[in-house]
Amino acid sequence: MKVEPLERSFGAKIYDLSLPDLEQEQIRELYDLWLEYALLVFPNQNLTTDQQISFAKNFGALEFELSPISNVRNDGSIRDANDDDIVKSLRGNMEWHHDSTYMPIQAKGAVFTAHKVPSKGGETGWADMRAAYEGLNQSMKEKINDLSAFHSYEWSQKERFGHKDPKVSEFNSYGFDIDPKPLRPLVKVHAETGQKCLTIGRHIYKIPGMSDQEARNLAQELEEFACSNKEWVYHHSWQEGDAVIWDNRCLMHQASMWDLSEGRIMYHSRIEGDPISEAASNYL
Ligand SMILES: [Fe+2]
Repeated sequence: MKVEPLERSFGAKIYDLSLPDLEQEQIRELYDLWLEYALLVFPNQNLTTDQQISFAKNFGALEFELSPISNVRNDGSIRDANDDDIVKSLRGNMEWHHDSTYMPIQAKGAVFTAHKVPSKGGETGWADMRAAYEGLNQSMKEKINDLSAFHSYEWSQKERFGHKDPKVSEFNSYGFDIDPKPLRPLVKVHAETGQKCLTIGRHIYKIPGMSDQEARNLAQELEEFACSNKEWVYHHSWQEGDAVIWDNRCLMHQASMWDLSEGRIMYHSRIEGDPISEAASNYL
């Protein structure tokens, strides 16, 4: 396989490899590359859904096998850009986040594949929370080293984007009703690399010891610092057939807006977090 690092603090494109035909040695090599680069991009793989699920399982058990991330209904029609709960979830995904920080166990990673892409826009961005933590000044590191935040999907998605009653909503509100809200350190040590990383993003709800406004300001300040440095951020312009895998423990991600009258169809497989290292501190 050919490994072409992105000109960033993370990420690599991988060529000359067929993901459905991996041998054991290649799987081990890819796993090590994934830990090192945190994001691997595989152009032109054209995986079937079964091939995607099999590939994802090489990196751990799955939190869920496959979910469409799309504004296109099964019958091919385009969903309403404003009033549709599925589209509201897509809009939520346009804010920076780690997956499943609002669940008792944060996700380990994810596989994403592109099946239909709009004529422009709709990129996915990732940001390196290892580099961002390292880049903080000493006084900010000391300020946040012992702080934790409650994460809530009920707040970040349901309340902020105004979903319909779950009984009539088309959106499967997985994660809306988590009680208590998971509490996670702002600075986490990556279980496999030992690197410190920020765990921040849209799902942060409250920070014990701070007013809501102070908590929001701090979360915002950290996010802007982490996601505005061009060295630490990469936005991928999708081509149909692309596949990626990212490490959700040390990267945040976001979708980018596109003309919502055009269809975009992606498939997402979510890799389950380790029940100890990725557990919220109030669920241990
Ligand atoms: Fe996500």
